[in-house]
Amino acid sequence: MKTLREYIKEAEEKGVAIGHFNISNLEGFHAIYQAAKNLSASGGANVPVIIGLSEGEESFVGRTEAVALVRAIRDRDNFPIFLNADHHHSFDSVKACIDADFDAVIIDGTKLSFEENVKITKECVDYARSVTKITGRDILVEAELGYIGEGSNIKETIPEGAGILTKPEDAKKFVEETGIDLFAPSVGSIHGLIKTGKPHINAELVAEIRKITGVPLVLHGGSGLRDVDFTNAIASGISIVHINTEIRVAFDEALKKSLFDNPSETTPYKILQPAVEAIEKVVEARLKLFNRIK
Ligand code: G3H
Ligand code: ZN
Repeated sequence: MKTLREYIKEAEEKGVAIGHFNISNLEGFHAIYQAAKNLSASGGANVPVIIGLSEGEESFVGRTEAVALVRAIRDRDNFPIFLNADHHHSFDSVKACIDADFDAVIIDGTKLSFEENVKITKECVDYARSVTKITGRDILVEAELGYIGEGSNIKETIPEGAGILTKPEDAKKFVEETGIDLFAPSVGSIHGLIKTGKPHINAELVAEIRKITGVPLVLHGGSGLRDVDFTNAIASGISIVHINTEIRVAFDEALKKSLFDNPSETTPYKILQPAVEAIEKVVEARLKLFNRIK
């Protein structure tokens, strides 16, 4: 099977993006995988997908459990499903995920100064490279510059200080000094669903940053963006798109309805089935858009 790095390269060549979806439980995992598998079966080619775990999601699901799950399904079905340590904030938590066999890690130093962000990111890159040297494993390290808010939740308005766009010269310096594999810039999106609506994606800025940094770009804060923002961003150089809040909302609403509609039901897999289907629907629609599948 091709590596995640190779799938990202292939996505860029095709002008599509790989969907990255966060999970908090096994139900989310099944739904995401099912959506990717269904599209692969109908389209004739496998649609690669990335499962993301933030630090909170990881401590709920279990770090080794998540690795075992993704690996088992990937090996059983020979399907391109990968695991990413999403928004990890310390060297130790990134290291723990690399040691546990994650395919990719994100060191999130966006709250730090530029210099401190470079320092911690470089430390993670150096560690990943040292592991690659010994094991031959290809480990992707991603980092971010520019604050796009925190938390995959529903927000009244854009949080204070978020949404300041990344400057191409800063992006270039950051990528050169850290040696990262993937770069997440601030180009208009914000984490979470914003009740007043999200700003547009600055596609020209995406193209400029892609060119000047020379590395594939990742779009965070995908929930609630208009379709045209995604397609413009992907055409301009985004290779991975992150979606989380839309999944959480779909799960939450379907689960509440299921409990309300069936007050005497006690079987978890029956209560949870509509929530799994709701996630599957969201993921399928997003994967179709990102992969230009009709
Ligand atoms: O890393 C996670 C994502 O960037 C999710 O953003 O909650 O707006 O979909 P979202
Ligand atoms: Zn994110």
